[in-house]
Amino acid sequence: MTKVITYGTYDLLHYGHIRLLERAKALGDYLIVGVTSDDYDKTRGKINNTQPLMDRIRAVKETGLVDEIVVEEYDGQKIDDIRKFGVDIFAIGSDWKGKFDYLNEYCNVIYLPRTEGISSSEVRAEQRKLNIGLIGNAVFKTKFINEAKYVNGVEIVGICTSQADIKTENENLLVTDKIDILLERVDAVYVVSKPEKHYQDVKKALLAGKHVLCESPIAFSQEQCLELYQIAAEKNLILMDAIKTAYSTAYERLVLLAKTGSIGDVISVDSVCTSLRDGIAAEGVDLSTKWNSMCGWAPVALLPVFQILGVNYNKKVITTKFLDEEANIDAFTKIDFTYPGSVASIKVAKAAKAEGELVITGTKGYIYVPAPWWKTDYFELRFEDSAENRRFFYQLDGEGIRYEIVSFAKAIESRKNNRYISEQVSSAIVKIIEDFNNRKDIITL
Ligand code: CTP
Repeated sequence: MTKVITYGTYDLLHYGHIRLLERAKALGDYLIVGVTSDDYDKTRGKINNTQPLMDRIRAVKETGLVDEIVVEEYDGQKIDDIRKFGVDIFAIGSDWKGKFDYLNEYCNVIYLPRTEGISSSEVRAEQRKLNIGLIGNAVFKTKFINEAKYVNGVEIVGICTSQADIKTENENLLVTDKIDILLERVDAVYVVSKPEKHYQDVKKALLAGKHVLCESPIAFSQEQCLELYQIAAEKNLILMDAIKTAYSTAYERLVLLAKTGSIGDVISVDSVCTSLRDGIAAEGVDLSTKWNSMCGWAPVALLPVFQILGVNYNKKVITTKFLDEEANIDAFTKIDFTYPGSVASIKVAKAAKAEGELVITGTKGYIYVPAPWWKTDYFELRFEDSAENRRFFYQLDGEGIRYEIVSFAKAIESRKNNRYISEQVSSAIVKIIEDFNNRKDIITL
């Protein structure tokens, strides 16, 4: 019996896949298909899959061409599989020509002609077709435009900025200082205007029927925040916080581990986010163009606090050192929270520097995320007996921004708000900023 093996993602199974499976099957008597796991695809930079693993497996099975299916989970697995199943032929589409020659040592490698004119990427792009507009003067400083290129079916079509005379490389990009003109052209917007303008920009976009991804905080008061979520719900639109860390796999997994008791009961969450890069303390800097430390960093720093301990704290104390109180620019701010059975603290600064780590203290051990924790691809579970320590690594491409965009596009497709940042967490973040702005529960140094 001649055994043939082939591998692929098989997202949105199309006739190109079916033809390949037919050709592979015809090479022998028994066809094994390796379908990539969602995590493995993510590590290979394939972030766009529309269908989860089980749906992709089902579709491959339903072709009736396959005798056995395996899940491909790691680099090097092909060699393992070939040995384990006693495979005679490894077959793959010609787009991989030369890439698998190393398998000739284990079996016969055959590159089959690829069907022209179709791919999962094209089907996805056809399905999605999401035109996004960017709002705010900081758009050129964000990595958003570049990162959107990695997401199938998403296109940045315009920018609304008061610096509308700026020349862009892309001639097709609309650059305007009139938000209404931008809103006419797009299905969704990414709002990165100054925080005090978020509410107004988000509201305008929602009322125009556009989905919104907005840098956190999405408003300056809880009342406004509630209103925005209400408009979004009434109009069946997606409103999402853009905190890129929330979309990193490592961060997502560490929150799950903390919540499932792997370090015992969580007693304390302590996060630090600082950066001097923005130069707010430099001589002669125009502070009116700058985000303060609170708006720049607190949403990120607060994320693990609210996602692990919840939003119902008993008490908080904000201690801040202003650079310019009138301009509402804090150099450094520390917030201490007391919960019924635990505590939390955040330190944020744009004019002071500290180790940017995240530590989650539990009754049995702790989770340690090294600096800069907000670009997490690695963390450790640490215990008294260091032999029990565990290390975790998850590939992070584009600091999480491209996953954030994928998640935004998927949320729009399914009309289900994303599972990453809940409305409660989004609104709790707004409340902290609101209290800071109103100098509530605050000690000034
Ligand atoms: N394949 C093919 N002809 C196509 C598309 C895919 O023969 N038009 C083959 C690939 O060469 C591979 C298998 O089908 O052997 C599974 O490919 P996969 O990567 O899952 O499909 P793509 O459509 O290429 O996906 P994407 O656009 O996401 O890269």
